[in-house]
Amino acid sequence: MNQLLETLHEKLQKRKQEGNFRALKPQSSLVDFSSNDYLGLARNEILQINIEKELQKLPQPHLGATGSRLLSGTHPYVLELETFLAKIFQAEACLIFNSGYQLNTAILATIPQKNDVILCDELIHASLREGKNLSLAQSYYFRHSDLEDLEKKLQKFQEKPHSHIFVVVESVYSMDGDIAPLPEIINLCKQYGAYLIVDEAHSTGIYGKQGEGYCISQNLHQDIFARIYTFGKAIGGHGACITGSKILIEYLINFARAFIYTTALPLHSYIHIRKAFEHIAENIYLQENLYQKITLFKTALQNLSHIQLKESFTPIQILKIGGNERTKLFAQKLQEKGFDVRPVLSPTVKAGEEIIRICLHAFNTEQEIAELCRNILILAKEI
Ligand SMILES: Cc1ncc(COP(=O)(O)O)c(C=O)c1O
Repeated sequence: MNQLLETLHEKLQKRKQEGNFRALKPQSSLVDFSSNDYLGLARNEILQINIEKELQKLPQPHLGATGSRLLSGTHPYVLELETFLAKIFQAEACLIFNSGYQLNTAILATIPQKNDVILCDELIHASLREGKNLSLAQSYYFRHSDLEDLEKKLQKFQEKPHSHIFVVVESVYSMDGDIAPLPEIINLCKQYGAYLIVDEAHSTGIYGKQGEGYCISQNLHQDIFARIYTFGKAIGGHGACITGSKILIEYLINFARAFIYTTALPLHSYIHIRKAFEHIAENIYLQENLYQKITLFKTALQNLSHIQLKESFTPIQILKIGGNERTKLFAQKLQEKGFDVRPVLSPTVKAGEEIIRICLHAFNTEQEIAELCRNILILAKEI
């Protein structure tokens, strides 16, 4: 082994000792309580048929995009889709990126300028962290959903001359399933002249009659500088889009490297996005099913003792276990009973705050949820 590989090997060994070594496993046949496919669209037969019908309407085969969006990768269908999405998301303009990760790195790397300040909630997604690290602006975290801490930081940086302040939050937090106090955050941003960016990855599709997400469903969208929607979760496909003003979108087309220097998505992905939004609007019962399942889960665990269920009214439900080994064992026992649940270990979360993240879906049956909860109640007393 050469010196470089030895160094890498040592780091991997350290991970193993700490109990957080990662390895790829094929999708399991266990009951799905871990995927982000909240509405079951990634496995929806009718949606698949509709996508195939749309593909067959094309006069010639369309597999790869053949180039980046600025070169050969913008099929007319994509422009129509962006107009369609701008309408659904009630925005002046919309731009699709290949993934939420690329989009989030792009927006924070591209829009805030050298003298600007980025204030991020401490629990924002890794992709937004990556974006802020690429930015020339200064960046700081405020405590999770802590309005006092946010205001303190807004006050501090408001006094800096010639700078713009950006506040970055998620509407539904991916790791905790809680919802940001958006009306209050919007008020603070207005008061201090800050620009708000909201990542709606985990609310896309599951709120609003057309799946338009949390902000619009609460009529909060008007005062938000940019909203980010992803299509790999409840939409069951791939890709992401940003909505905002025409100038914002034109700026990204011209300056966002993660948009410019990559091959566009294949047409199939764009068709999937359009057909999925149509499917949600025509089958609103899917959202109703999901919310019914969330209530069922929470009711079944209302007498949970020894461990805590985090307060959440979204499909993301968190069991606070604590300790890498204890959390892994808890998850393993549930997996042995046939449930696909995943532990979230330190250093992904702080040491001592390890959790099991359970994702509920419209397609989980009442019996599956009842059985899962029955096992959680037993294990909570045993482990
Ligand atoms: C909050 C949040 N934003 C962005 C992303 C990235 O989206 P994508 O999976 O489309 O890259 C994720 C994915 O896990 C996420 O949870």
